[in-house]
Amino acid sequence: MAAQPSQPNGERPPPYQLATWSVIGLALLAVLALASVRTDRDPERGRDYPPRPLVAAATPVLLPPPEMDDEYLPCNDCHADEEPNANVRDLEEEHDDMEFRHGDLWCLHCHDLEDRDVLHLANGARVAFDDSWQLCTQCHGEKLADWRAGVHGKRTGHWRGAAEYRTCVSCHDPHEPHFRPLAPKPPPLRPEQITRTDSAIEEVEP
Ligand code: HEC
Ligand code: HEC
Ligand code: HEC
Ligand code: HEC
Repeated sequence: MAAQPSQPNGERPPPYQLATWSVIGLALLAVLALASVRTDRDPERGRDYPPRPLVAAATPVLLPPPEMDDEYLPCNDCHADEEPNANVRDLEEEHDDMEFRHGDLWCLHCHDLEDRDVLHLANGARVAFDDSWQLCTQCHGEKLADWRAGVHGKRTGHWRGAAEYRTCVSCHDPHEPHFRPLAPKPPPLRPEQITRTDSAIEEVEP
């Protein structure tokens, strides 16, 4: 009779099988032990304080633009009676002291012809002065993503809470938007200059 592949009844299993089963058994125990450790450390279990949300409910806040000169507000005080004039020209009767350097634009690319208290987009949709960034980013679309991400402009507020955005006209005058160079500040004082008497500090300050 040919040799049976299975072991004969009543005999002790050969040592390699014992070894295999004990390795499997130990591995199972180890997995169970690890699993219990993991669940013990589960941060959601057994806490007596409310879990903080991982993602901030960061509703962005748009800070208002700087106050406009009241001399001209509301615009419709004059413009309600003024015949709208869409011709590109030099203004002489009013707004004549206004500096204007912004590409080849004319006032009515931005200001609404019929209602001077609002701006308008290219499709004619009206936009409040406070939302002028929507107008700016229509032409300067490449700045929109950067501004939203807080790369262009300045974002303050909270990482986890509301992020505060400065609107475009907080930094750029819409009529001459070129950012003017800032005067450089003096370098910080060296420690030995700070520890001298007050009068000496005055002397070294540029
Ligand atoms: C004191 C009256 C007065 C006020 C207030 C005033 N405007 Fe005017 N505005 C005028 C006059 C007058 C002209 C025409 C000037 C000219 O033709 O030389 C004019 C012209 C304009 C024009 C050029 C297009 C057109 O219709 O002639 C724009 C744009 C404009 N104003 C926007 C504004 C805005 C925006 C405000 C409010 C922030 C404002 N104005 C407030 C008197 C006023
Ligand atoms: C690029 C768009 C744009 C153009 C072009 C433009 N404006 Fe304005 N203008 C604005 C915005 C935006 C504001 C509001 C600024 C703010 O919120 O501080 C404003 C504000 C004003 C104001 C009130 C505040 C101030 O600065 O006195 C007047 C008046 C005015 N514009 C007149 C004009 C006239 C006149 C022209 C054309 C010579 C013109 N604007 C061209 C976007 C524009
Ligand atoms: C209708 C299109 C249009 C709108 C709306 C518009 N711009 Fe512009 N902007 C231009 C053009 C065109 C130029 C000139 C680009 C050039 O000269 O290369 C320009 C130039 C600029 C510059 C660069 C100026 C420099 O010389 O460094 C700034 C900053 C700027 N715009 C900001 C704004 C802001 C802020 C607003 C919103 C109040 C705005 N723009 C709205 C078309 C627009
Ligand atoms: C906190 C201030 C600040 C705010 C807010 C801001 N900018 Fe600027 N922006 C700057 C400064 C500073 C520069 C000049 C960078 C330089 O000269 O290298 C500039 C440059 C620019 C330029 C011309 C430079 C270029 O890349 O060609 C444009 C166009 C412009 N900004 C558009 C915008 C628009 C549109 C918004 C609103 C969505 C905006 N900015 C908001 C500070 C600001």
